[in-house]
Amino acid sequence: MPLEIVRNDITKMKVDAIVNAANESLLGGGGVDGAIHSAAGAGLLAECRTLCGCKTGKAKITGGYNLPAKYVIHTVGPIYNDGKHGEKALLESCYRESLALAKEHQCETVAFPLISSGVYGYPKDQALKVAIDVISDFLLENEMTVYIVIFDKAAYKISEKLFSDIAEYIDDNYVDEHTDYSRERIRMNALPQAAPRKRRKKSDDDFLEMCDCKAMLAEDDLNAKLKQIDESFSQMLLRKIDEKGMTDAECYKRANIDRKLFSKIRSDVNYKPSKPTALAFAISLELSLAETEDMLRKAGFALSHSNKFDIIIEYFISKGNYNIFEINEALFAFDQSLLGA
Ligand code: APR
Repeated sequence: MPLEIVRNDITKMKVDAIVNAANESLLGGGGVDGAIHSAAGAGLLAECRTLCGCKTGKAKITGGYNLPAKYVIHTVGPIYNDGKHGEKALLESCYRESLALAKEHQCETVAFPLISSGVYGYPKDQALKVAIDVISDFLLENEMTVYIVIFDKAAYKISEKLFSDIAEYIDDNYVDEHTDYSRERIRMNALPQAAPRKRRKKSDDDFLEMCDCKAMLAEDDLNAKLKQIDESFSQMLLRKIDEKGMTDAECYKRANIDRKLFSKIRSDVNYKPSKPTALAFAISLELSLAETEDMLRKAGFALSHSNKFDIIIEYFISKGNYNIFEINEALFAFDQSLLGA
């Protein structure tokens, strides 16, 4: 998954580079700056001394010393005032400059803390949004795995409105798996039931006899529909990419899926993806709920109302919000696994 939100101590991350939320002196401090310096050891400070500081919004790189990471990218976030003094542009620049340095040094994996969201007072939900927007734009054009590392859950905030909207939607739709099914059955029986479909052979003639509308159905349209009944997940995915006029790369990047996994799915007609992967593609293709259910079925899954993960996905599809990074932010806030590989 090219962009992941994880809970961890960034000094423990085994990645090519970790990013430090430093101050302009680059001579250490508290928060994540202090944690990185104490984990890296004295060599880091010695090298920082040679850098002669760093301007807000800019980034500089050093070795990782005793850290598991090979490099430390030091960036200086803006001190938040009221949001009207260019803070957002400076914060965006921190992520952009750090990613550019990581790319310059052939880093394949990079971990960011939420820059400026601690001592520098940047509102957490806005700091997170800036991070996700800049990183996801970068990942549309570049191959890299980027982690946003959340140290303490309390520091993690999606917007209050979004959080309460989703919580309400879950309340309205969540069916506890221990529901008293007799009650549930009564409720279902109270609904107007569609006449049970007779199970029929799927042969063309039998199908045409049944609907007795040979003349109306164009043969090729009918064959296409019959073919779709039997197509695999992989075949449906590739058909949908073509129908949407997307390139393969656009599809897997918007699904937050890495290229290697996509080529596995593409080359194996019977590939069975995980549920989060199948849903990530449904989101990337901006499928309706019915089409999403159909794509899930091809992978052997179904959306369930006794599963918060599924209800949150359903919430976003029903709102027409297919931004997978925003969806992952919300899933993370509700302690659910994320969409993607
Ligand atoms: N791992 C990951 N994230 C961490 C860790 C850690 N070990 N420690 C703190 N954080 C998180 C905080 O929870 C916060 O969300 O890093 C984010 C940034 O907080 P700060 O470290 O306070 O950084 P910032 O807000 O950018 O302020 C920078 O603080 O430490 C000083 O020298 C630093 O003057 C500079 C200022």
